[in-house]
Parts: sequence; C-alpha cells; structure tokens
Amino acid sequence: MPDQIRLQKFLAQCGVCSRRKAEQYIQQGHVTVDGHVITQMGVTVTPGVSKVTFRGRPLASKEEPVYYLLNKPKGYVTTLKDPQGRPIVTSLIKEKTARLFPVGRLDLDTEGALILTNDGALAQKIQHPSHTTDKTYAALVRGIPSKTDIRQLEKGIILEEKLTSPAKISILSSKGRDTLMQIIIHEGRKRQVRKMFSYIGHPVIELKRTAYGKLQLGKLVIGKYRLLSSSDINRIFL
Ligand code: URA
Repeated sequence: MPDQIRLQKFLAQCGVCSRRKAEQYIQQGHVTVDGHVITQMGVTVTPGVSKVTFRGRPLASKEEPVYYLLNKPKGYVTTLKDPQGRPIVTSLIKEKTARLFPVGRLDLDTEGALILTNDGALAQKIQHPSHTTDKTYAALVRGIPSKTDIRQLEKGIILEEKLTSPAKISILSSKGRDTLMQIIIHEGRKRQVRKMFSYIGHPVIELKRTAYGKLQLGKLVIGKYRLLSSSDINRIFL
C-alpha cells in the first residue's frame, strides 16, 4: 500500500499546480476527497486509493519510478502474460506497483539477475542497441571447451546469419566432466548464450545471469528481490 501524503503534495504530483497554489485551491473549495469538499489544511490522501477531484475532474498521481533487482527462478516467464498459464516474474514482487515490467528477457530455464521497473524511459535506455550494457552469465556446459573453442566464441560466430559481438569468456571451475564458464556479452539475442556454447559442441546445462552491467546479483536468494537505489542504477551503466 503506498504511503499517505498531504493533499497539496498530491495535487502538485498530479501536475495541477505548485503546492503553495494547491493550498489556495483547497481553501477555495475546488478539491474533493472521497466525495467530500475539503477546505481545511492537514488532510492526507493515499495515492491510487483516495478518490481526489479538482474542479470536478478526477486526478491520478504520476507513479514514482521504482526499480527492483530480482533473482529470477527457473520456471518463470519474463513476459507479462503467458497463454500457457506459467508463472510470470512480476507475480514475485509483493509491492503492488501498476505497470511493473521486466527489462529484457531471460529464458524460462535461466535464473538470475533481472531488473523490473515501471520506468519505461530507463528500460528503453538500458536496452537500446547503442547502449552496450555487459551482461555476465555463469554457464555450466557439457564437457571441457578447448582454448581454440573459447577464442572462437570470443571473436564472434555467425548465429542466424549475423556475427556475434566480441565476448569475454573464462573458465570458473570444472565440475566432473562438465565446466562452469563465465561469459560476458552485451547483446541480448534470443537464447544467445545457449546457442553460442552449442555451436562449439558444449551445450549449456545450467544458466544463471550473475550481473547486469556492474550491478551484481550478490547473495540475493532465488525468488527474492531488492529495491534498487540510484547508485545501484548507475552501476548498470558503468
Ligand atoms: N542467453 C541465453 O541463452 N538465455 C538467457 O536467458 C539469456 C542469455
């Protein structure tokens, strides 16, 4: 539930006028809250809940922008609706914010860092092709890729008739007959990491996005999320 705010602040947030002017309008009887004309100062309202009118016109406050970092679990889709009825990532966010949507996508079977916001402008900026935000993934792949294979992926391979942009790849550890790799790419083509490793004959078994720009997933538990601060947001663009 959003916090209560003073009526004059609400009027200003809705773009009606300044807070000072709002006080005059309230005193002059231009404003109603839940059907009652308000002429006294000190009334508070709950944005999105209280019904406020100005000169008979209903008002809706512009929503404050919010940004969350979610550790997406497997089995969740990053679309806003799913015809097959699978769970959607926004259902994991308990705070009810209208119009919350994921920035970019992660496959159904990929887990890890996913940003959710109601800020369309920021989402567009992050995803614009001119903006080369690095995405870091930990990929458990079948077998042990050779140095030559890794070099080839780093330089670029042809996927769907288009060369992939340079990637940074390193071996994190070996897991029996399989290998845990780190791969950093800034493109976001569909199933790109999976397709890249399949191309060299080492298909991905498990995939997790560990960072978005310099914003690290850290110790965030799967299925949990945290509110991002403005300095967190800046880390996306570093
Ligand atoms: N690359 C993939 O193959 N899958 C993802 O979910 C993200 C990047």
